[in-house]
Amino acid sequence: MPIEKIIVLEDDALVRKSLEQQLRNRRYDVAGCGSIADAQEYLNKDNFDLIFCDVRLPDGDGTEFLKQVQTRPSKPLVIMMTGYGTVESAVACMKDGAFDYMLKPFSGEQIDVILKKAEEFTQLVKVNKFLTQDEGDENHYELLGRSPAMDQVRQLIRKVARTQATVLIHGESGTGKELVARAIYRESPRNNAPFIRVNCAAVPENLIESEFFGHEKGSFTGAVNKREGRFELAHGGTILLDEISEISPQVQAKLLRVLQERELERVGGSRTIKVDVRVIATTNRDLEQSVEKKEFRQDLYFRLNVVPMLVPPLRERREDILFLAEKFMHRFERKHGVKVGGMSAACRNALENHSWPGNVRELQNVLERGVILCADGEQLQSAHLGFSGASGIIVAQGTGNTASTGASASSSADGAEGVISLGDMEKNHIIQTLEKCAGNRTHAARKLGISIRTLRNKLNEYGLATKGEGDVEEAAE
Ligand SMILES: Nc1ncnc2c1ncn2[C@@H]1O[C@H](COP(=O)(O)OP(=O)(O)OP(=O)(O)O)[C@@H](O)[C@H]1O
Ligand SMILES: [Mg+2]
Repeated sequence: MPIEKIIVLEDDALVRKSLEQQLRNRRYDVAGCGSIADAQEYLNKDNFDLIFCDVRLPDGDGTEFLKQVQTRPSKPLVIMMTGYGTVESAVACMKDGAFDYMLKPFSGEQIDVILKKAEEFTQLVKVNKFLTQDEGDENHYELLGRSPAMDQVRQLIRKVARTQATVLIHGESGTGKELVARAIYRESPRNNAPFIRVNCAAVPENLIESEFFGHEKGSFTGAVNKREGRFELAHGGTILLDEISEISPQVQAKLLRVLQERELERVGGSRTIKVDVRVIATTNRDLEQSVEKKEFRQDLYFRLNVVPMLVPPLRERREDILFLAEKFMHRFERKHGVKVGGMSAACRNALENHSWPGNVRELQNVLERGVILCADGEQLQSAHLGFSGASGIIVAQGTGNTASTGASASSSADGAEGVISLGDMEKNHIIQTLEKCAGNRTHAARKLGISIRTLRNKLNEYGLATKGEGDVEEAAE
């Protein structure tokens, strides 16, 4: 319910009490007052969403009060209540910012109609405020790709979009999980309702609860005003919980309740708020492993994992590499106002043979940089791609075109005699394994069957210790 607190400003006690009662029956929080002074006192103490306002009042004119309300920072909607004699002034009030007016006496149905309108308006304003802070164009791109793997993803999107089921999207960083979530939303029957995203990894831990569920005025230091949480904003629509593995056990427990009961309380609040929200979550960690390690609640995992989806890494759908690269090249030509004369064969080769530990995001960045570095009208060359460091190495493909670290360049030079030293082979094998593990040394060591310390020593020995953009420190251990 976007509207919660209402003031009824009416000096006729009978009319006032009756309206108050009708609003309370509809579960609103109502303050009744018979004078402008009383109403002002309420407004100074608390935030209200809506005021029913009489025109003639003992200490002044309702129309004057309306004008004052318009100057408040969190201005409530005002509905003027008027008898036959004052219709004209009520209409004039619309010009001064009244939301609507009602003729006295009014029926319960008329109250319903006007409340519905006010609720919808308030929800729109709130969602709009949120969207204009948060959204960039980048996220509205369609999901491209022609690999069988992407076709499967698209098929699954179509199927789940029609349902209300909770979806958990797994995949490495940069594979397009957010894009998949947005595609589900776009194809769902809720696509006219809000799509609200929370990046759980970006919100500081002590604020995430209030970000999810909102807070009441004064519930903690800094909570100057009451605030709706993202679940409330998403009411009727879809919420995307990005990087869900990052939330604390305390918030996990509260999230479980929302998923089970579809209800919540704001931080510092006691009122239970019902929400109707479709939930999509993403993770680039293996949540099952987090459950085993007792970092993530199993019951919550089951609730989220109703429909699991996997977005495969780019290296496992190589058909998409050149296809996406061409699309991105044209996109960046337009963005930067340059014209590139296609791609050289060596450039295509380098793109296809790269391991893409950063997935589509990396491909996108490489193409943007390439288009910028390439002179107007010139062909895009492999040198424009700027591959370097362990994550960018393509080992012994025989093209001789690929950029590589000094260490492995010497190995391809040795190739003249057709013999690669054992040391070089080991080194290349380590590099490839690191690439496969997206630079994560803990995983790479496990795959190689050596200890992390041995791996570190070998990297030092080969002068690879600090190289590689994709390096992930052992924090994940
Ligand atoms: N199939 C695709 N077609 C077009 N663009 C894509 C595709 N997949 C990813 N992208 C683009 O790559 C970038 C990364 O995608 P996205 O943010 O959806 O990845 P992610 O899996 O959510 O990554 P992270 O785990 O790091 O949040 C975005 O700019 C997105 O537009
Ligand atoms: Mg993401």
